Amino acid sequence: ATERTLSIIKPDATRRNLTGKINAVFEDAGLRIVAQKRMQLTEAVAGAFYAVHKDRPFFGDLVSFMVSGPVVVQVLEGENAVLKHRDVMGATDPKKAAPGTVRAQFAESIEANSVHGSDSPENAANEIAFFFSQIEILP
Ligand code: CMP
Repeated sequence: ATERTLSIIKPDATRRNLTGKINAVFEDAGLRIVAQKRMQLTEAVAGAFYAVHKDRPFFGDLVSFMVSGPVVVQVLEGENAVLKHRDVMGATDPKKAAPGTVRAQFAESIEANSVHGSDSPENAANEIAFFFSQIEILP
């Protein structure tokens, strides 16, 4: 079925001017960018977005990293978009990511791993609503 997922190009990637190269991977996989904006997250916003991880040991570092530079938040649409996006991102840890995936090609570390993607259609709906209003999404 046609789905939408929330994607974030993280500060390590925007810093290295990789937005276009990463978007090309997504588009080549059949994902369509139906909304996109460049933002500077605050600690409050990054912490709220990653609230599910608030008890994890890496939470503080993750929030600091996510506010270390601009991010590009996007809504991607396509057939099986959630899984397709996760496939082309590759594993969270770039050392475990399959060749050709965004993280294998571009990620610096398990934390500075260049991209975020929703992990289920339910979370995608919540994460999309966190960043975008309906009139900003243009299929
Ligand atoms: P993301 O898919 O955005 O979800 C949580 C993020 O926490 C993850 O990508 C990484 O950027 C970061 N992170 C840092 N350390 C770890 C870790 N040990 N395990 C999982 N995620 C981590």
